[in-house]
Amino acid sequence: MERPVRLAILASGSGSNTASIMRYFADEENVEVAFVGCNRPPERAGIYERTRALGLETTRFTKSDLVEGRLLETLQNAHIDWVILAGFLMHMPPAFVQAFTGRMLNIHPALLPKFGGQGMYGMHVHEAVIAAGEKESGMTVHWVTEAYDEGGIVFQASCEVNLDDTPQDLANRVMQLEHTYYPRTIAACIESVNA
Ligand code: GAR
Repeated sequence: MERPVRLAILASGSGSNTASIMRYFADEENVEVAFVGCNRPPERAGIYERTRALGLETTRFTKSDLVEGRLLETLQNAHIDWVILAGFLMHMPPAFVQAFTGRMLNIHPALLPKFGGQGMYGMHVHEAVIAAGEKESGMTVHWVTEAYDEGGIVFQASCEVNLDDTPQDLANRVMQLEHTYYPRTIAACIESVNA
């Protein structure tokens, strides 16, 4: 029998998407979350506790580990097949993107191509959506390419923006969509590439 597809998840913050992905694949025989990495220290990122509760230690890495290729080497040595970005806020070096082309996905908390690009992450996105008077927002899953937030869109789900929404209200609504749809979109992409 073939071995399971091995995922690495990279994140920078609370790790709620990481936890939802880990839960989704926990009972899956064909896919396993083999590595979770975070560029922030445990005192600034809730992800360490979340993954520990699910039985996997988050590995801390630094910007220079990413930029100088050591993280890529770690993932290659760990036989990682796919890289999943889940609230990862650093720019991916070209060599890293090339190594996982067609096997690296990102999630964005808005309907790209609107509200994407440098500086558009987390709560900044929801603030901008509300300030622009948008009636609809949502989440986007896209392939990672060297151009920030510009890789091909794989899946989008939308939700209403209400007139009295705070950025936090909208963030909560979008997060629900992310937790529901990111894991199954990852599964569908792996299935279609491996078919
Ligand atoms: C998610 O909403 C994700 O879409 C966003 O960061 C949040 C991470 O939450 N990503 C970006 O803004 C990327 N530009 P989490 O750590 O609880 O999964």
